[in-house]
Amino acid sequence: MNKLLMHPATKPVIFLLCLLPFARLAYGAFTDGLGANPAEFLIRATGDWTLRFICIVLAVTPLRVTAKWNALARFRRMLGLFAYFYVVLHLLCYSWFDMGFEWGEIAKDIAKRPFILVGFSAFVLLTPLAATSFNRAIKAMGAKRWQMLHKLVYVIAGLGLLHFFWMRAGKNNFAEVFIYVAIIAVLLGWRVWNYASKRKAKASAGARGGEKPLRSTT
Ligand code: HEM
Repeated sequence: MNKLLMHPATKPVIFLLCLLPFARLAYGAFTDGLGANPAEFLIRATGDWTLRFICIVLAVTPLRVTAKWNALARFRRMLGLFAYFYVVLHLLCYSWFDMGFEWGEIAKDIAKRPFILVGFSAFVLLTPLAATSFNRAIKAMGAKRWQMLHKLVYVIAGLGLLHFFWMRAGKNNFAEVFIYVAIIAVLLGWRVWNYASKRKAKASAGARGGEKPLRSTT
């Protein structure tokens, strides 16, 4: 698998796969194929894809460590940037179709509707992660500070779920929300378990006479 992941064609193929939802939405928009309410369809579909990409990014480290697919790490930045791409589209669709680009009304709506405020907070937090996802930013910030900042992805996932839950609460329709809650709980649960077992291994290595500490993989 690592060989396939390292193949020069794999990255462009994954890039094109990540663009497929956008292509499908653009095609639907130009061919009248988004149902009776295309604006609602676009807002919801881009919201769904943002949450899916956040789940995919969170799955990279567990998969890399448990399946030993180390080469997966080279796609993480691209997948994170796709999460940002879809949330920008989501925000644009909302600002355009729901609010007609009336910036004052948008500010009022964010302040008035808690589920929009929570979604907007997730977007604001995602922005520095996208802006610092380049090698030069990692160098400028130092690896430790960069890693700390990028732990915000857990808060963003939580806010994304709360936003989705709150939106669906009005319709009493939680089935999909709980699927995402379960996926994110498993992915975060794995990280807690992994952290705890590393600490344990480090402590017992220390007790045996100070072996080299293990590196973090978050
Ligand atoms: C990381 C950030 C965000 C995530 C993960 C996210 C995710 C979602 C999801 C999953 C949905 C529901 C889609 C469905 O029903 O299938 C949704 C709906 C929606 N979101 Fe977001 N969202 C985010 C940020 C935002 C922002 C910044 C805004 C606007 C300021 C926003 C406004 C909306 C609106 C208006 C809806 C549709 C509500 C409706 O149709 O009644 N979201 N979002």
